[in-house]
Amino acid sequence: MIGRLNHVAIAVPDVAAAALLYRDRLGARVSEPEALAAHGVTIVFIDLPNTRIELMEPLGANSPISAFLERNPRGGIHHLCFEVEDVDAAGGVLAALGVRVLGEGPRTGAHGKPVIFLHPGDFAGTLIELEQA
Ligand code: CO
Repeated sequence: MIGRLNHVAIAVPDVAAAALLYRDRLGARVSEPEALAAHGVTIVFIDLPNTRIELMEPLGANSPISAFLERNPRGGIHHLCFEVEDVDAAGGVLAALGVRVLGEGPRTGAHGKPVIFLHPGDFAGTLIELEQA
């Protein structure tokens, strides 16, 4: 079902500081911070040859990553995103297998494509995002 690893998302308290770690210590190409108000995060993209990393900092009062950062104040891996051909079909198959699909069906993700999230309790402790390829 799943294809490429689209991105690894890392929640951090300070996205600019985290970006400098990747740029100056690892020689990675990093983007300028981008505020995604509709998603409650500010993101820096780190482009790698085979995938990318998304550094996320909470934005606004109701950021979906605030609780995660309260539990992990120095930051940590928040989710993995895999590409699927049909996110609706994937959600249906997984729900039928007893996997908890979060929210009310697909919504528009940070890249403007439909995404769903799978409960970490059903995936070895890892929050999984599936994005329409
Ligand atoms: Co993501």
